[in-house]
Amino acid sequence: MSQLKTISLSHLDNVPSSPGKFKSDKPLTYIHRLRFHSSVSKLTLWLALFLALLVFFFFLSPPSPSPPPRRSLGSWGGSRWEKRIRTSARVRSRSSSTVLVTGAAGFVGTHVSLALKRRGDGVIGLDNFNEYYDTKLKRARQEMLDQAGVFVVEGDINDRELLNKLFDVVPFTHVMHLAAQAGVRYAMQNPASYVHSNIAGFVNLLEVCKSANPQPAIVWASSSSVYGLNSKVPFSEKDRTDQPASLYAASKKAGEEIAHTYNHIYGLSITGLRFFTVYGPWGRPDMAYFFFTEDILKGKEITIYEGSDHISVARDFTYIDDIVKGCVSALDSAKKSTGSGGKKKGSAQFRIFNLGNTSPVPVTKLVNILEKLLKVKAKKKFLPLPRNGDVKFTHANISLAQRDLGYKPTTDLETGLKKFVKWYIRYYKGSKRSSW
Ligand SMILES: NC(=O)c1ccc[n+]([C@@H]2O[C@H](COP(=O)([O-])OP(=O)(O)OC[C@H]3O[C@@H](n4cnc5c(N)ncnc54)[C@H](O)[C@@H]3O)[C@@H](O)[C@H]2O)c1
Ligand SMILES: *[C@@H]1O[C@H](CO)[C@@H](O)[C@H](O)[C@H]1NC(C)=O
Repeated sequence: MSQLKTISLSHLDNVPSSPGKFKSDKPLTYIHRLRFHSSVSKLTLWLALFLALLVFFFFLSPPSPSPPPRRSLGSWGGSRWEKRIRTSARVRSRSSSTVLVTGAAGFVGTHVSLALKRRGDGVIGLDNFNEYYDTKLKRARQEMLDQAGVFVVEGDINDRELLNKLFDVVPFTHVMHLAAQAGVRYAMQNPASYVHSNIAGFVNLLEVCKSANPQPAIVWASSSSVYGLNSKVPFSEKDRTDQPASLYAASKKAGEEIAHTYNHIYGLSITGLRFFTVYGPWGRPDMAYFFFTEDILKGKEITIYEGSDHISVARDFTYIDDIVKGCVSALDSAKKSTGSGGKKKGSAQFRIFNLGNTSPVPVTKLVNILEKLLKVKAKKKFLPLPRNGDVKFTHANISLAQRDLGYKPTTDLETGLKKFVKWYIRYYKGSKRSSW
């Protein structure tokens, strides 16, 4: 699997998941330069040239093997591939679930997949391995999953054929949908990637789920960012979510509305989880706790953002193991979807939960903890929070998740960061990273 490097997405809408990642072939610019000339002789000349080129390329191209390769063949298909899928989807007991985990090579996806596999569920991962952040980290997670018996299929959630194929091979009882374009500030650089993964990709996945027989129950990751400029604390599920502060937030909010539509029309059972700043081992390099660690160890200056009142930005940091427990109990408590044959048969479950830690911590405190754990003094620069999508604070009210999921976070920031730092040092020690 690891030697499969390239994935062709040219049959999709040609929107890269991140810039320069999935570049489609350069447009055939010479076509645009073609002009229709009034002179018939010129037209014939062009025609002749065109035909000559056609013949030329026909003989140049190697004979296509039969059957011809699948149009969307990234790295999937074939009997060996199907066998790997079936093996990975094998359940330990009849009561176990069979779960498709999208974004499985991602931070949360890896941890959730491992937890499900460990308890005997059948798990298939799906990830497009885009280069939004270091793909080596995604490959290392994939390797870890592989060793645990979880096969991560390389592909995009926009690939209808691939998803249909997966559902043909495995009758998934659940979909844990974690694939997304994450990151708040990056949305200004590459807005299309948010539309591609968080909106178009989500719709495509729901289309496949609604047609599947049986329909799976779906649990997916929304985000605390949907609370946007909401200033009422703590954030409760019933609070307004119509003032997003970033395209990322808007795309997650859109996802919640889209989910409701599919629940309403097709009877899909759907649970949305609003995660609050998840951190931990195997985490995301684009998040502050991660790159602060990196920069502090390098002796590089770090920037801490403050509100207008010089109060540090605060986050309800939530440890990965707590999030995983929330995800797993959301899957376990999900009722079955009610539709079949693409048609609704009765009303289905629709839920939204906050998964946070209920204890916001100022970023200055986060830095203090990291300094202590790394035994290095950070070079700090304070700047006013720019208006590029980040909100000043987040604070979850988790009483709903507590009631319905038995969700109860148990890891405070210091304990969790200790585990992160331990992993970070082990993971990057001896690697060719310049920081080490
Ligand atoms: N980590 C957090 O603090 C946090 C907070 C709120 C919400 N979330 C949400 O939780 C989910 C998981 O987040 P994460 O932190 O693990 O992020 P991540 O970026 O580590 O994981 C997402 C994975 O999805 C894959 N992916 C992206 N677009 C895809 C596509 N079109 N097709 C197939 N795979 C695709 C990526 O390659 C990546 O491996 C995301 O939906 C994210 O928006 C995370
Ligand atoms: C937390 O949420 C619950 C359930 O939605 C609600 O009843 C309660 O009032 C909220 N608590 C606060 C402090 O906002």
